[in-house]
Amino acid sequence: MDVTLTREGLQAIDELLLSTIDSEVDLLNQASRHIIASGGKHLRPHVALLSYLAAGGDDLMEAVSMATAIEMVHTATLVHDDINDHALLRRGRPSVHARWGRTFALLTGDYMFAKVYTLMAPYGATYNVIMARACSELVEGETMQAVAAKAGTIDRETYKRIVELKTASLFTGAARMGALLGGGDERVVEALATYAFNLGIAFQMVDDILDVVGDPEAMGKPIGTDLAQGRGAFVAQPNGKAILTLQPAGDVSATTAAVAEAVAVAEATTGGEEDDPVARMMAKLRTSGAIELARLQALEMIDRACAALNDVPPSAARDELLSLTDDVINRDH
Ligand code: IPE
Ligand code: IPE
Ligand code: MG
Repeated sequence: MDVTLTREGLQAIDELLLSTIDSEVDLLNQASRHIIASGGKHLRPHVALLSYLAAGGDDLMEAVSMATAIEMVHTATLVHDDINDHALLRRGRPSVHARWGRTFALLTGDYMFAKVYTLMAPYGATYNVIMARACSELVEGETMQAVAAKAGTIDRETYKRIVELKTASLFTGAARMGALLGGGDERVVEALATYAFNLGIAFQMVDDILDVVGDPEAMGKPIGTDLAQGRGAFVAQPNGKAILTLQPAGDVSATTAAVAEAVAVAEATTGGEEDDPVARMMAKLRTSGAIELARLQALEMIDRACAALNDVPPSAARDELLSLTDDVINRDH
């Protein structure tokens, strides 16, 4: 990821993330620092800083606290998401709940969320309302996913809405706040928000693809979780997550058949402990052409993100936003 324009800002964000964690309760410090210090790509704050610059901002440091708040929200949601998904590994390390247990992971996530108020305080109402909207949409997306998984009612439209809410909303908020702070006019602010919205959708689609074909070592988290969880796509109560991302846009019967077969495999192997249905489903998905089709759908979102940048005046920051789209579609972690 090219960070030429934002290196200083990203460094300042790392420092502020750590220094904001200052509890008198040491467990909260340890657990928060555990996840913060384990890295992460910082994609959302990067989008915030670049949007600030692309909209005409000339003092990157004025966007740092807001961009740190964005990363703090994201990190807190990972802590909570790993409880929900029973994920034991995050960023190549034990997840907070694997290390400290569910109760403390819940509280650590809450603590980090609470710190967002402090980080956002300097910016006033407009920015705080944008942040509040992003946070509530994110929670709505995670909840919609869990509800639909339980009910087995996910269809293509529901998947799309879940991704918009749980992932694209924070990207959009990051860009919108950055662009406003940078002094962009309405057209530029909307263009950058649209860019980030589509980038966020593509990002989640690629994440779901990597959950089937990715290298767990590079990703620092296990693969197959979308399928393996009760909310997995091809177990008894499909949440449709993978079905939807892996479903062809048109009528490609090979993929549809592979999906149907995967469901059948899952159902047939219920109770057959020695068979690993998830591994078998993943193998089928990999050879069905479904992955390639899913990538095409993600590419369509990338195209929309790039097109939105046409309404942003040319600049080095706009170029870097453009090259971020390549990073997202080509990423392996
Ligand atoms: C992971 O996000 C959660 C998803 C929305 C898929 P990232 O892949 O951006 O996580 P880090 O911050 O780089 O670990
Ligand atoms: C991550 O979602 C959390 C949010 C987007 C809020 P996922 O469950 O799809 O991502 P990973 O695979 O755990 O990173
Ligand atoms: Mg998860």
